[in-house]
Amino acid sequence: MRWFAPGRANLMGEHTDYNEGYVLPFALAHGVTASVTARPGRHGRPGRMLAMRSKQVPDEPVTVALDSLTPGAVTGWAAYPAGVAWALREAGIDVAGASIDIDSDLPVGAGVSSSAALECSVALALCELSGVTVERRTLAAIAKRAENDFVGAPTGIIDQYAALLCQEGHAMLLDCATLTVTQVPFAPAAAGAAALIIDTRVAHALVSGEYAQRRAQCEEAARLLGVPYLGAVQDPAEASRLADPVLRRRARHVITDSARARAIASALLSGSVPAAGGAEPVPAQAIYRYIGRLLTEAHASLRDDFEVSWPAADVTVEVAVAAGALGARMIGGGFGGSVLALIPVERMAAVRAALTDAFTERGWTPPEFIDAIPSAAARQLA
Ligand code: GLA
Repeated sequence: MRWFAPGRANLMGEHTDYNEGYVLPFALAHGVTASVTARPGRHGRPGRMLAMRSKQVPDEPVTVALDSLTPGAVTGWAAYPAGVAWALREAGIDVAGASIDIDSDLPVGAGVSSSAALECSVALALCELSGVTVERRTLAAIAKRAENDFVGAPTGIIDQYAALLCQEGHAMLLDCATLTVTQVPFAPAAAGAAALIIDTRVAHALVSGEYAQRRAQCEEAARLLGVPYLGAVQDPAEASRLADPVLRRRARHVITDSARARAIASALLSGSVPAAGGAEPVPAQAIYRYIGRLLTEAHASLRDDFEVSWPAADVTVEVAVAAGALGARMIGGGFGGSVLALIPVERMAAVRAALTDAFTERGWTPPEFIDAIPSAAARQLA
């Protein structure tokens, strides 16, 4: 059983998922492949051991007994596949002994959701091995549970939904309050542009305290505003009712970023932009210029209001835009990882060269570039 699950880039809506706001991710062509085979026990009985190996971490095969899986029992990369086996069993699926072999072409800690790709590829492969078909939204919730409760990272639902439900050539608008999905055609090539991921080579770790602290601050801001989640607030002016300047900034980011996700989706769906009156169709170039402006605006919001950016991301956005990108912003949880830029094809080489120069001048490891091609969700491989 071989299953592939993609990483994702998030076009808009960062730190909005756990606030029950909107997100707009698309799946990448890069991802994780999980190959799973049965590992029978003695005398033909179902096996009770899970053996996990990764091509990217060849020195660390990990074997654990399925019956001893409890949160915290496995650490490091193997906590993700082990956590999935645990979460499937918690959901009543009888996962038996298995060998799991992982291969990936996604950078780890780069904000492109290698964790969810790992979880979702393993979840699909283990389900097939167990002879059960689980609806993808249910499987997303199971994979999220593995990450939240077994690995201990208090993340939202965007990554697992993106890995399991995105469509080729589309971004996916997800209302995290109702889990309603709208597929939105996203084809920068139609406007002579392309999306590029710039991995700043500063790795982040979501288990670290900052992510959890942002979450707690958002919950506190929502409580003070008298709403269940910040995603329920539409008007950014509402944030000014918060006396605490930090909570005010956090709330303003969530409200405006969620609105930006919806604004991009509606521009792409309607073929028009608010500046042009909203109803009149405009050329594709105008739509992608508008998206670019919102990307750069969102970066400022993540940097100044939510305070999750890092110096290499700020330099990347500034240099990319100066070299001709339509816009750019950091993606993922922050404190390291990648920037997503929208770049006219004729400026692509110049933007990449300017970034490599800017990093080299500062004595930083040059960035890694990944073509961000809107791709299909997880699938079975032959
Ligand atoms: C990480 C989490 C997601 C989301 C983003 C920020 O990628 O896994 O759930 O919260 O950060 O938008």
